[in-house]
Amino acid sequence: MAIRTIREENDEILKKVSKVVDEVDDKIKLLVDDMLETMHKYNGVGLAAVQIGILKRIVVIHLDYEKDKPIVLINPEIIEQKGEQIVEEGCLSFPNKFAKVARPAEVTVKALDENGKNITIKGKELLAQAISHEVDHLNGEVFIDKIIPGTLEYVPQE
Ligand code: NI
Repeated sequence: MAIRTIREENDEILKKVSKVVDEVDDKIKLLVDDMLETMHKYNGVGLAAVQIGILKRIVVIHLDYEKDKPIVLINPEIIEQKGEQIVEEGCLSFPNKFAKVARPAEVTVKALDENGKNITIKGKELLAQAISHEVDHLNGEVFIDKIIPGTLEYVPQE
């Protein structure tokens, strides 16, 4: 396992559309391990492969490090979404920047897990927000382009 460099801000790769994963093989599993390690290192709740410079449709999400297990979504497709929530949001690729964004209140996503098995996950609140944010990354969309005007805050880290 290895910690990868996170692509930030104006890196053009963040605007690119990621490609479908054909097969969940050992190489993909190693990539998933690196993504998990990198997300944990930087205390993120989610990370898309494009954020470490790999244009593959893979995301990892881990909301509560103590209570939950991480979620791995390969080729995720949002098959249903309901409602709307206005939420505070950040992104590992935009360090220190936070803003309010409108996200679906509930999301159902279909994907493959890290073993290549079909899974369907229904998420509300923070999980719906995280799924929506990470799937956006796979389509070359970043949260900073959809923030509610006037809500951007710069919060420097210690
Ligand atoms: Ni992000």
